[in-house]
Amino acid sequence: MRLSLAAYFTLTYWFSPSYKIIDYFNLMSVDSHLDKPWGGRFEEPTDAFVEAFTASIDFDKRLYRYDIEASCAHARMLVKTGIITEKDGDHILEGLQVILQEIKEGRFKWSIQLEDIHMNIEARLIERIGEAGKKLHTGRSRNDQVATDIRLYLRSEIDRIHLQIRSLQSVLLGLAEHETNTIMPGFTHLQVAQPITFGHHMMAWFEMLERDGERLRDCRRRVNIMPLGSAALAGTSYPLDREYTAKLLGFQCPSNNSLDAVSDRDFAIEFCSVAALLMTHLSRFSEELVLWTSAQFDFIELPDRFCTGSSIMPQKKNPDIPELVRGKTGRVNGNLISLLTLMKGQVLAYNKDNQEDKEPLFDTVDTVKASLRAYTDMMSAIRVNRKAMYSAATQGFATATDLADYLVGKGIAFRDAHEIVGKAVKRAIDAGKDLADLDLNVLQQLSPAIQSDVYEILGLAGSLASRDMTGGTAPRQIKLQIARARKRLGLED
Ligand code: ARG
Repeated sequence: MRLSLAAYFTLTYWFSPSYKIIDYFNLMSVDSHLDKPWGGRFEEPTDAFVEAFTASIDFDKRLYRYDIEASCAHARMLVKTGIITEKDGDHILEGLQVILQEIKEGRFKWSIQLEDIHMNIEARLIERIGEAGKKLHTGRSRNDQVATDIRLYLRSEIDRIHLQIRSLQSVLLGLAEHETNTIMPGFTHLQVAQPITFGHHMMAWFEMLERDGERLRDCRRRVNIMPLGSAALAGTSYPLDREYTAKLLGFQCPSNNSLDAVSDRDFAIEFCSVAALLMTHLSRFSEELVLWTSAQFDFIELPDRFCTGSSIMPQKKNPDIPELVRGKTGRVNGNLISLLTLMKGQVLAYNKDNQEDKEPLFDTVDTVKASLRAYTDMMSAIRVNRKAMYSAATQGFATATDLADYLVGKGIAFRDAHEIVGKAVKRAIDAGKDLADLDLNVLQQLSPAIQSDVYEILGLAGSLASRDMTGGTAPRQIKLQIARARKRLGLED
């Protein structure tokens, strides 16, 4: 029975898209001889397969610095409240520092038998400092420990990601400043719609990232609550000073309800949803870059170092970074769904299901950080092809709306004006010309209201300058947009 169960899991694992494939065959029938910290009530050792199946050390070891940081704060609080002696507290703190060093230098021996990061570190502490080490776990449980570790980890990653968003925003801002007057076609339905500037376009992405940053900061407020002291689920009978521990760890405050604190992972789900939106923005941006780098658009060029070639077609220079970022959005969305699904069936309080929160969360953090980095580097090195943008804007009758607005200015109702311009566009198509190239008498046949001043608005620069309202594409407005953005980034001169 044991064998077939093991074989089942082995097969499931080999063929499932799990993050790590563990060789369970080699572990199937060997029983563990190691004592567990919780082994007291057990009569036989854990089956080696079960040990490997339930262990999380392979992936949760990356929480080590937060686990140690939280343990140090807990130990200091235990001393402050008189729950352990100062001497024991000092031993614990020293021991934890040594362990931190061992891990950083790659000298720490991770053990799968010790299941996870918490028990690996605690066991090593006891091995090093003896009796005092056994007191560290007073008044806490792995349930509040792991929830605390993840929050510390995520808080610091949120701060990093936030800085990365800021860097990308500064690059976009720099581009917008440089290209404030660069005319390009603006699109709807990917059809030329109205002329805009490249600066305006870059500032659109700036705004989206600004909201991503805001969402991240908002999410951080809910991440920054401390579960430690909730113990297994109901709190503890020791006179803990949770406010003190929270202060040491830089948390806003201790959690209000122990059951909630050890069990919910909504803060991680929230982060993943913020990340999914951020990646969605980068993915849309990527789609544009892929189009813009094509020979058909040729609006921008990516430096060779951000592209790859084809093994068969010598002429190819592929925009791999935008394509990959667009592709990676899929896994970030998937991670969000994984976590939502992980949570939805769980009764209060902690359940082992929650161990599955880490890989999707880590993967999301890694993917977002890598994508932002790639984007920042790439965008600071793009070459803008002003000529191609300009010539694309002169095709596709981008100033048709301007002509309609001009007619409205001459007292014609907008719907009638729309009709007249539609006819003008038809004439232009038939003549193989742009609107601005039609003779005045041709235009006047369509509406006698049209005078020679029409050519001012049929030109791209005139069209742009006319959109001079808050949020509009007139270069004067873009300068104001940029000034507001600089203020928000704290870049005021
Ligand atoms: N490795 C576990 C996790 O990631 C730590 C908490 C385990 N708690 C327990 N009661 N088994 O969630």
